Amino acid sequence: MFHHEILHDPQIVTKVNEFINRNKDSLIAIVTSGGTRVPLEKNAVRFIDNFSMGNRGAISTEWFLENGYAVVFFHREESLKPYSRKFMHIFEHLQVNEEDGKVVATGFDGLAESITKYNTYKNRLLYIPFTDLDQYMHMLDVICKQACPLGPRLLIYLAAAVSDFYIKREELPTHKIQSTNGDLQLKLSLVPKMLERLVSNVVPNAFVISFKLETDESILIDKSKSALEKYGHQVVIGNILSTRKRKVVFVYPSGQVDPIEMSDDQIAKHMEIEELIVDKLKILHEKFISIKNSKY
Ligand code: PMT
Repeated sequence: MFHHEILHDPQIVTKVNEFINRNKDSLIAIVTSGGTRVPLEKNAVRFIDNFSMGNRGAISTEWFLENGYAVVFFHREESLKPYSRKFMHIFEHLQVNEEDGKVVATGFDGLAESITKYNTYKNRLLYIPFTDLDQYMHMLDVICKQACPLGPRLLIYLAAAVSDFYIKREELPTHKIQSTNGDLQLKLSLVPKMLERLVSNVVPNAFVISFKLETDESILIDKSKSALEKYGHQVVIGNILSTRKRKVVFVYPSGQVDPIEMSDDQIAKHMEIEELIVDKLKILHEKFISIKNSKY
Protein backbone atom coordinates (compact mmCIF):
# COMPACT_ATOMS: atom_id res chain seq x y z
CA MET A 1 0.00 0.00 0.00
CA PHE A 2 2.83 2.45 0.72
CA HIS A 3 5.39 1.87 -2.01
CA HIS A 4 4.69 1.93 -5.69
CA GLU A 5 6.89 1.76 -8.74
CA ILE A 6 6.54 4.17 -11.61
CA LEU A 7 4.54 2.27 -14.25
CA HIS A 8 5.18 1.98 -17.98
CA ASP A 9 2.45 2.76 -20.53
CA PRO A 10 1.26 -0.83 -21.19
CA GLN A 11 1.00 -1.45 -17.42
CA ILE A 12 -1.06 1.71 -16.97
CA VAL A 13 -3.32 0.79 -19.87
CA THR A 14 -3.93 -2.71 -18.46
CA LYS A 15 -4.49 -1.51 -14.90
CA VAL A 16 -6.86 1.30 -15.87
CA ASN A 17 -8.87 -0.90 -18.22
CA GLU A 18 -9.22 -3.67 -15.64
CA PHE A 19 -10.20 -1.12 -13.03
CA ILE A 20 -12.85 0.47 -15.23
CA ASN A 21 -14.28 -2.95 -16.16
CA ARG A 22 -14.40 -4.02 -12.53
CA ASN A 23 -16.23 -0.81 -11.59
CA LYS A 24 -18.39 -0.46 -14.67
CA ASP A 25 -21.52 0.30 -12.65
CA SER A 26 -19.93 3.18 -10.71
CA LEU A 27 -19.15 6.77 -11.48
CA ILE A 28 -15.38 7.09 -11.97
CA ALA A 29 -13.15 9.90 -10.68
CA ILE A 30 -9.55 10.56 -11.66
CA VAL A 31 -7.95 12.54 -8.83
CA THR A 32 -4.51 14.16 -9.29
CA SER A 33 -2.60 14.87 -6.10
CA GLY A 34 0.71 16.26 -4.85
CA GLY A 35 3.44 18.34 -6.46
CA THR A 36 5.56 17.57 -9.50
CA ARG A 37 9.35 17.56 -9.46
CA VAL A 38 11.47 19.22 -12.14
CA PRO A 39 15.03 17.90 -12.65
CA LEU A 40 17.95 20.31 -13.27
CA GLU A 41 20.23 17.67 -14.83
CA LYS A 42 19.69 14.58 -17.04
CA ASN A 43 21.53 12.49 -14.45
CA ALA A 44 19.54 14.34 -11.87
CA VAL A 45 21.07 15.30 -8.56
CA ARG A 46 19.04 18.47 -8.06
CA PHE A 47 15.37 19.28 -8.56
CA ILE A 48 12.85 22.11 -8.28
CA ASP A 49 9.87 21.08 -6.20
CA ASN A 50 6.89 22.64 -4.42
CA PHE A 51 5.01 22.64 -1.12
CA SER A 52 2.14 20.26 -1.92
CA MET A 53 1.90 17.20 0.33
CA GLY A 54 -1.27 15.99 -1.36
CA ASN A 55 -3.69 16.54 1.51
CA ARG A 56 -6.39 17.84 -0.80
CA GLY A 57 -6.21 14.91 -3.19
CA ALA A 58 -5.96 12.21 -0.49
CA ILE A 59 -8.86 13.52 1.60
CA SER A 60 -11.04 14.17 -1.45
CA THR A 61 -10.43 10.61 -2.64
CA GLU A 62 -11.85 9.29 0.65
CA TRP A 63 -15.00 11.36 0.11
CA PHE A 64 -15.38 10.35 -3.53
CA LEU A 65 -15.24 6.71 -2.40
CA GLU A 66 -17.76 7.42 0.35
CA ASN A 67 -20.06 8.93 -2.32
CA GLY A 68 -20.00 5.80 -4.47
CA TYR A 69 -17.22 6.70 -6.92
CA ALA A 70 -14.40 4.40 -7.99
CA VAL A 71 -11.20 6.49 -7.93
CA VAL A 72 -7.99 6.46 -9.94
CA PHE A 73 -5.65 8.16 -7.48
CA PHE A 74 -2.88 9.65 -9.62
CA HIS A 75 -0.43 10.91 -7.02
CA ARG A 76 3.10 12.06 -6.32
CA GLU A 77 4.86 8.93 -5.13
CA GLU A 78 5.73 10.04 -1.61
CA SER A 79 2.71 12.24 -1.00
CA LEU A 80 -0.11 11.50 1.45
CA LYS A 81 -2.42 8.59 0.69
CA PRO A 82 -6.09 8.14 1.51
CA TYR A 83 -6.71 6.55 4.94
CA SER A 84 -3.03 6.28 5.95
CA ARG A 85 -2.51 10.07 5.72
CA LYS A 86 -3.21 10.70 9.42
CA PHE A 87 -0.76 8.07 10.61
CA MET A 88 2.50 9.18 9.07
CA HIS A 89 4.36 9.55 12.37
CA ILE A 90 3.97 5.99 13.55
CA PHE A 91 7.13 5.96 15.73
CA GLU A 92 5.72 8.64 17.99
CA HIS A 93 2.87 6.31 18.90
CA LEU A 94 4.87 3.17 19.67
CA GLN A 95 6.41 2.06 22.95
CA VAL A 96 8.18 -1.09 24.05
CA ASN A 97 6.66 -2.78 27.10
CA GLU A 98 9.53 -3.27 29.59
CA GLU A 99 8.16 -6.56 30.97
CA ASP A 100 7.63 -8.62 27.83
CA GLY A 101 9.40 -6.50 25.18
CA LYS A 102 6.22 -6.30 23.09
CA VAL A 103 5.46 -3.16 21.06
CA VAL A 104 2.39 -1.25 22.24
CA ALA A 105 0.65 1.42 20.15
CA THR A 106 -1.01 4.37 21.89
CA GLY A 107 -3.01 7.42 20.84
CA PHE A 108 -3.93 6.26 17.33
CA ASP A 109 -7.38 7.87 17.31
CA GLY A 110 -9.35 6.66 14.33
CA LEU A 111 -6.82 4.04 13.16
CA ALA A 112 -9.26 1.11 13.35
CA GLU A 113 -11.85 3.11 11.41
CA SER A 114 -9.31 4.08 8.74
CA ILE A 115 -8.13 0.48 8.28
CA THR A 116 -11.74 -0.71 8.02
CA LYS A 117 -12.57 1.98 5.44
CA TYR A 118 -9.43 1.19 3.45
CA ASN A 119 -10.38 -2.49 3.34
CA THR A 120 -13.97 -1.65 2.41
CA TYR A 121 -12.97 0.55 -0.51
CA LYS A 122 -9.67 -0.88 -1.72
CA ASN A 123 -11.19 -2.58 -4.78
CA ARG A 124 -12.57 0.76 -5.88
CA LEU A 125 -9.24 2.57 -5.53
CA LEU A 126 -6.41 2.40 -8.07
CA TYR A 127 -3.05 3.97 -7.13
CA ILE A 128 -0.90 5.30 -9.96
CA PRO A 129 2.23 7.19 -8.84
CA PHE A 130 4.32 9.85 -10.58
CA THR A 131 7.34 11.86 -9.46
CA ASP A 132 8.65 14.13 -12.20
CA LEU A 133 6.74 16.67 -14.26
CA ASP A 134 7.17 14.76 -17.54
CA GLN A 135 5.79 11.58 -15.93
CA TYR A 136 2.76 13.54 -14.70
CA MET A 137 2.09 15.06 -18.13
CA HIS A 138 2.53 11.83 -20.05
CA MET A 139 0.82 9.43 -17.66
CA LEU A 140 -2.23 11.64 -17.11
CA ASP A 141 -2.73 11.63 -20.85
CA VAL A 142 -2.48 7.82 -21.01
CA ILE A 143 -4.92 7.35 -18.09
CA CYS A 144 -7.45 9.81 -19.50
CA LYS A 145 -7.36 8.22 -22.97
CA GLN A 146 -8.33 4.89 -21.42
CA ALA A 147 -11.13 6.47 -19.42
CA CYS A 148 -12.51 8.58 -22.28
CA PRO A 149 -15.22 6.04 -23.32
CA LEU A 150 -16.91 6.66 -19.95
CA GLY A 151 -18.13 9.98 -21.38
CA PRO A 152 -19.93 12.20 -18.86
CA ARG A 153 -19.69 9.52 -16.11
CA LEU A 154 -16.01 10.40 -15.83
CA LEU A 155 -15.07 13.14 -13.37
CA ILE A 156 -11.55 14.60 -13.44
CA TYR A 157 -10.39 16.43 -10.30
CA LEU A 158 -7.09 18.21 -10.90
CA ALA A 159 -5.83 18.98 -7.39
CA ALA A 160 -2.13 18.41 -8.13
CA ALA A 161 0.23 21.38 -7.86
CA VAL A 162 1.88 21.06 -11.26
CA SER A 163 5.06 22.99 -11.92
CA ASP A 164 4.58 25.93 -14.29
CA PHE A 165 8.27 26.07 -15.25
CA TYR A 166 10.80 23.48 -16.37
CA ILE A 167 14.04 23.06 -18.30
CA LYS A 168 13.57 21.68 -21.80
CA ARG A 169 15.16 18.27 -22.34
CA GLU A 170 17.51 19.61 -25.03
CA GLU A 171 18.74 22.32 -22.62
CA LEU A 172 19.34 20.03 -19.62
CA PRO A 173 23.02 19.41 -18.79
CA THR A 174 23.85 15.71 -18.77
CA HIS A 175 25.89 15.66 -15.59
CA LYS A 176 25.76 17.25 -12.16
CA ILE A 177 26.10 21.05 -12.39
CA GLN A 178 29.44 22.02 -10.85
CA SER A 179 29.60 24.64 -8.10
CA THR A 180 33.17 25.46 -9.15
CA ASN A 181 31.61 27.32 -12.11
CA GLY A 182 30.26 29.95 -9.70
CA ASP A 183 26.71 31.40 -9.48
CA LEU A 184 24.08 29.44 -11.35
CA GLN A 185 21.59 31.02 -13.72
CA LEU A 186 18.69 28.92 -14.89
CA LYS A 187 16.47 29.49 -17.89
CA LEU A 188 13.08 27.96 -17.20
CA SER A 189 10.49 27.48 -19.93
CA LEU A 190 6.74 27.58 -19.49
CA VAL A 191 5.04 24.17 -19.11
CA PRO A 192 2.14 23.77 -21.56
CA LYS A 193 -1.16 23.50 -19.64
CA MET A 194 -2.32 19.90 -19.72
CA LEU A 195 -5.85 21.08 -19.11
CA GLU A 196 -6.19 22.55 -22.58
CA ARG A 197 -5.41 19.27 -24.35
CA LEU A 198 -7.49 17.23 -21.90
CA VAL A 199 -10.66 19.25 -22.32
CA SER A 200 -10.50 19.83 -26.05
CA ASN A 201 -9.02 16.53 -27.29
CA VAL A 202 -8.64 13.73 -24.78
CA VAL A 203 -11.81 13.67 -22.65
CA PRO A 204 -14.16 16.21 -24.25
CA ASN A 205 -17.27 14.73 -22.59
CA ALA A 206 -15.95 14.39 -19.03
CA PHE A 207 -16.85 16.58 -16.05
CA VAL A 208 -13.60 18.44 -15.37
CA ILE A 209 -12.71 20.38 -12.23
CA SER A 210 -9.45 22.30 -11.94
CA PHE A 211 -8.04 24.15 -8.95
CA LYS A 212 -6.55 27.61 -8.90
CA LEU A 213 -4.09 28.41 -6.15
CA GLU A 214 -3.06 31.99 -5.39
CA THR A 215 -1.52 33.87 -2.48
CA ASP A 216 -3.11 37.21 -3.47
CA GLU A 217 -6.87 37.07 -2.84
CA SER A 218 -7.60 40.05 -5.08
CA ILE A 219 -6.77 38.10 -8.28
CA LEU A 220 -8.25 34.69 -7.40
CA ILE A 221 -11.71 35.06 -8.95
CA ASP A 222 -10.49 36.74 -12.15
CA LYS A 223 -7.83 34.08 -12.65
CA SER A 224 -10.41 31.33 -12.08
CA LYS A 225 -12.82 32.91 -14.57
CA SER A 226 -10.14 33.27 -17.20
CA ALA A 227 -9.16 29.59 -16.77
CA LEU A 228 -12.80 28.63 -17.48
CA GLU A 229 -12.91 30.87 -20.55
CA LYS A 230 -9.63 29.53 -21.85
CA TYR A 231 -10.18 25.80 -21.32
CA GLY A 232 -13.98 25.48 -21.45
CA HIS A 233 -14.32 23.02 -18.58
CA GLN A 234 -17.01 22.84 -15.89
CA VAL A 235 -15.71 24.18 -12.54
CA VAL A 236 -12.69 25.98 -11.13
CA ILE A 237 -12.19 25.73 -7.39
CA GLY A 238 -10.18 28.71 -6.19
CA ASN A 239 -8.13 28.61 -2.99
CA ILE A 240 -5.62 30.81 -1.15
CA LEU A 241 -2.51 29.08 0.18
CA SER A 242 -2.91 30.17 3.81
CA THR A 243 -6.68 29.51 4.12
CA ARG A 244 -7.07 26.54 1.78
CA LYS A 245 -8.14 24.13 4.52
CA ARG A 246 -11.19 26.17 5.57
CA LYS A 247 -12.22 28.25 2.57
CA VAL A 248 -12.57 27.65 -1.17
CA VAL A 249 -14.64 29.23 -3.91
CA PHE A 250 -16.46 27.41 -6.73
CA VAL A 251 -16.44 29.40 -9.97
CA TYR A 252 -18.68 28.38 -12.89
CA PRO A 253 -18.62 29.17 -16.64
CA SER A 254 -21.74 31.36 -16.17
CA GLY A 255 -19.57 33.68 -14.04
CA GLN A 256 -21.43 32.62 -10.90
CA VAL A 257 -19.26 32.43 -7.79
CA ASP A 258 -20.07 30.18 -4.86
CA PRO A 259 -17.87 30.32 -1.75
CA ILE A 260 -17.63 27.45 0.76
CA GLU A 261 -16.34 28.22 4.20
CA MET A 262 -16.22 25.88 7.18
CA SER A 263 -18.22 27.10 10.19
CA ASP A 264 -16.57 27.25 13.65
CA ASP A 265 -18.80 24.34 14.60
CA GLN A 266 -17.57 22.23 11.66
CA ILE A 267 -13.95 23.07 12.50
CA ALA A 268 -14.53 22.12 16.16
CA LYS A 269 -15.93 18.77 15.00
CA HIS A 270 -12.71 18.19 12.97
CA MET A 271 -14.60 18.11 9.70
CA GLU A 272 -12.50 18.63 6.60
CA ILE A 273 -13.51 20.95 3.79
CA GLU A 274 -13.05 18.21 1.18
CA GLU A 275 -16.26 16.58 2.49
CA LEU A 276 -18.20 19.73 1.55
CA ILE A 277 -16.37 20.08 -1.78
CA VAL A 278 -17.08 16.50 -2.86
CA ASP A 279 -20.74 16.59 -1.71
CA LYS A 280 -21.31 19.63 -3.91
CA LEU A 281 -19.43 18.14 -6.86
CA LYS A 282 -21.47 14.94 -6.75
CA ILE A 283 -24.69 16.96 -7.15
CA LEU A 284 -23.18 19.01 -9.98
CA HIS A 285 -21.82 15.90 -11.70
CA GLU A 286 -25.19 14.11 -11.58
CA LYS A 287 -26.88 17.17 -13.08
CA PHE A 288 -24.19 17.28 -15.78
CA ILE A 289 -24.78 13.61 -16.65
CA SER A 290 -28.53 14.01 -16.95
CA ILE A 291 -28.18 17.08 -19.19
CA LYS A 292 -25.64 15.29 -21.43
CA ASN A 293 -27.81 12.15 -21.60
CA SER A 294 -30.97 14.10 -22.44
CA LYS A 295 -29.18 15.48 -25.51
CA TYR A 296 -28.87 12.04 -27.11
O1 PMT B 1 -1.63 19.30 -1.55
P1 PMT B 1 -2.18 20.28 -0.56
O2 PMT B 1 -1.14 20.77 0.39
O3 PMT B 1 -3.41 19.76 0.14
O4 PMT B 1 -2.64 21.59 -1.38
C1 PMT B 1 -3.69 21.54 -2.27
C2 PMT B 1 -3.48 22.54 -3.45
C3 PMT B 1 -3.38 23.94 -2.92
C4 PMT B 1 -2.21 22.16 -4.21
C5 PMT B 1 -4.72 22.40 -4.40
O5 PMT B 1 -5.87 22.76 -3.70
C6 PMT B 1 -4.58 23.30 -5.64
O6 PMT B 1 -4.93 24.46 -5.63
N1 PMT B 1 -4.03 22.74 -6.76
C7 PMT B 1 -3.81 23.47 -8.03
C8 PMT B 1 -2.62 24.38 -7.91
C9 PMT B 1 -2.56 25.38 -9.04
O7 PMT B 1 -2.65 26.57 -8.90
O8 PMT B 1 -2.49 24.96 -10.22
P2 PMT B 1 -2.19 25.87 -11.54
O9 PMT B 1 -2.75 27.24 -11.50
O10 PMT B 1 -0.73 25.75 -11.81
O11 PMT B 1 -2.98 25.05 -12.56
C10 PMT B 1 -4.38 25.14 -12.75
C11 PMT B 1 -4.95 23.76 -12.98
O12 PMT B 1 -4.40 23.17 -14.14
C12 PMT B 1 -4.70 22.83 -11.81
O13 PMT B 1 -5.86 22.13 -11.56
C13 PMT B 1 -3.57 21.94 -12.27
O14 PMT B 1 -3.69 20.64 -11.69
C14 PMT B 1 -3.75 21.96 -13.80
N2 PMT B 1 -2.48 22.00 -14.56
C15 PMT B 1 -1.46 22.80 -14.19
C16 PMT B 1 -0.29 22.85 -14.94
C17 PMT B 1 -0.20 22.06 -16.09
N3 PMT B 1 0.90 22.03 -16.85
N4 PMT B 1 -1.22 21.28 -16.44
C18 PMT B 1 -2.34 21.27 -15.70
O15 PMT B 1 -3.28 20.56 -16.05
